[in-house]
Amino acid sequence: MKHKLSKLKLTCKRFLLNVCSFNFILAKFYFLFSRSYTFEQTALLSGLRRFNLIAKKKRQSNSLLRRNIHRLEKGLIMQPRKPEFATDYIEETVETFKECSSSSQSSVSELDWAFSVLTEYFRVVKLEHKKIQSSLKLFQSINYLPKSSSKIPYLHKGKSDLKHSSEFEELVYKRASVRWFEKNSSPSIDIVKRVVDISLQAPSACNRQSFEYRFVDNKDLLAKLLKLPGGVTGFADNIPSLMVVIGDYSGYYLERDRHLIYIDASLSSMMLLLAFENFGFNTCVLNWPENDKKNKEINSILNLPTYKRVIMLVAVGKADCSGGVPYSQKKDSSTSLTVNE
Ligand SMILES: Cc1cc2nc3c(=O)[nH]c(=O)nc-3n(C[C@H](O)[C@H](O)[C@H](O)COP(=O)(O)O)c2cc1C
Repeated sequence: MKHKLSKLKLTCKRFLLNVCSFNFILAKFYFLFSRSYTFEQTALLSGLRRFNLIAKKKRQSNSLLRRNIHRLEKGLIMQPRKPEFATDYIEETVETFKECSSSSQSSVSELDWAFSVLTEYFRVVKLEHKKIQSSLKLFQSINYLPKSSSKIPYLHKGKSDLKHSSEFEELVYKRASVRWFEKNSSPSIDIVKRVVDISLQAPSACNRQSFEYRFVDNKDLLAKLLKLPGGVTGFADNIPSLMVVIGDYSGYYLERDRHLIYIDASLSSMMLLLAFENFGFNTCVLNWPENDKKNKEINSILNLPTYKRVIMLVAVGKADCSGGVPYSQKKDSSTSLTVNE
């Protein structure tokens, strides 16, 4: 009976998939009754709402400021550079800088960077446009003292002095997902900080870096978290620490940018894996499922607001050399690269 029922369910699902994948109206109908996207959609809307509410308000790192300063930097390096640019967002940028610079919470390096770029912008831009003039006035009224040297666009230094690094290649080929770890082999917080600082050098859309890392080696918290992902069956108990990669939808104000938290966090996470490897630690990415119940559970355990969501977990520790590592044959350029086709 049970077998017959699941067969019927599968037949119905196949029928629906056949019909509903035909066009977007039918696809919408299909998802009306599916809960697959509920958490994601709520998280996205909550992020867009938060961006609009607090874009210019005080917070540690301001996504709007980062985005606009990045746009100014691109304007500054444009060839040929326009005598007048950024007229549509310079006021917003200076206002946001003013808000952020008056908050003790704001990141100093972010403010120094914004200050340098704004100073350079007003130094080179033609001061005829009304908006540029009023923005300059406002900028001059802000009493900000940078703590570090200038952070303006620079000329590329050409080929690096480092030799083509065979050590880098070695590191890349050596890295493999490790699932068996030595007891109590979690990295020190100093190493975790260095690894995260390296990972944060990754590229990101408009340099917004709308994601964060949370490191966990507390046994109770670790045990609670490791109950959630499906892919740790059989080896969860020996994982000494976890890095939780968290995306923040409130860094964006357009629905079309909803994929960026995944891309940015993943580019950075790859650097994280290599950086850990470089410090003698091993890792294994653990899949985080797109599942409403699990998303709610992990957000509640980590006390995350709705607009933040877990993207992946990474097990971290030192490999137990008596534990096996799957060979995991990779594809190569013969199957995965086409040129000028
Ligand atoms: C997004 C993602 C999810 C993964 N999820 C799991 C998982 O849940 N459990 C696991 O044991 N390995 C997981 N892995 C590790 C992969 O199985 C592993 O990267 C792949 O087999 C290639 O092997 P390698 O990492 O040793 O090169 C995951 C990797 C990625 C990138």
